[in-house]
Formats: sequence, structure tokens, C-alpha cells
Amino acid sequence: MDILNTHPAPDRDEPVWTPPGGPPQTDRIPDAVYHAMGEENITAFFHAFYRRLGESAVAHMFPKSERNLMRAADKSAAMFVFLFGGPHLYQQKYGRPMMRARHLPFVIDEAARQEWLRCYRETLDEAPEKYAMPGEHVGAVWKFVVDFSGWMVNTKKENT
Ligand code: HEM
Repeated sequence: MDILNTHPAPDRDEPVWTPPGGPPQTDRIPDAVYHAMGEENITAFFHAFYRRLGESAVAHMFPKSERNLMRAADKSAAMFVFLFGGPHLYQQKYGRPMMRARHLPFVIDEAARQEWLRCYRETLDEAPEKYAMPGEHVGAVWKFVVDFSGWMVNTKKENT
């Protein structure tokens, strides 16, 4: 689906809402995270995270079949290889990130963001033990995703 350059996105009825603060000015994640984990552990982290998403309150947004869910996880993992301080894997494979634009087909309100963050937090909590994430950098990863996920919110519902 070519969702880029289409505004508002074709699959949604709800108007697009843009967070008034603009893109977050958030600190970079130390590249020690990539160096400790490597691509393999980062991919394993995202498979576990997407399994949680697949059973969450936002599961309807994600592919239903295990195969396609894991493909989607691989895409996100490629992005996080870069965000954790590794090579520009996502950019090499898929082009410019344009993260907010790529999320526009999905109706993401604050409640969806919080559910996404809950799944991320649970995966993060087991990351030092299971995926070799350095424990001292878990806080920096969490701060990044809390800040950056706010910019993925594109729908304003009452009381959120
Ligand atoms: C730190 C914030 C986030 C980052 C860095 C991120 C990253 C990504 C990336 C790289 C993709 C693949 C995009 C593509 O190439 O098509 C993706 C897809 C997606 N993201 Fe996010 N995301 C974030 C937050 C969120 C939030 C808060 C939600 C809300 C539930 C969300 C829902 C989705 C969905 C539904 C997809 C499509 C999955 C599919 O391929 O079917 N994301 N995300």
C-alpha cells in the first residue's frame, strides 16, 4: 500500500490529528545497546514484542497470521537496529523512515499508544536477561519510546 503523500490517509474515516508540540526532541539511545545486542537479539526482542501486540487491545491493527506478524516485527526491528545505534538497516531496505506518515493509515489515539507502550514495557523488562540489553540503558530506551510514540498519535478522541 502506498500511503505516502496521501493526506489524510485513505483507509481511515477519522480526521488526522497532529500533536501540537511537533516531532519530539528526545535524546539518542546510546550505541552500546546495539553493540551489546546485535541484530539477532534485537530481532528476537521485536518478535516477542509483536507477539504481545498480537494479543493486545490493539491487535486489530496488526497482521493476523503469525508469518505476517513476524514480517511486520522484522520491519520494526530493522528500524530499531538503527535507533539502538547500529547501521541504517531500515533505510537500506525500505527507504526514508517518515515514521509518522507510515503510521497514518492506522487510527492511533492516546489509548492505543498506551497499550503499545505496555507491550513494549513488558518486553523491555525481560530484555537484559533474554536479549542482552545492557541494564543501565533500559531507562534510555524507555524514555525514547515514550517520547517518540507520542508523535505517532494521529487521532484525538474525547478525554485522551
Ligand atoms: C517509538 C514509537 C514507534 C516506532 C519507532 C514505530 C516503528 C514502526 C515501524 C518501523 C514500522 C514499520 C513501518 C513500515 O515500514 O511500513 C511500524 C509499523 C506499525 N506500527 Fe509502529 N512505531 C511506533 C509506535 C507505534 C504506536 C504507538 C502504534 C500504535 C498502536 C504503532 C502501530 C504500528 C502499526 C499498526 C504498524 C503496521 C504493522 C504492519 O506492518 O502491519 N506504532 N512501526
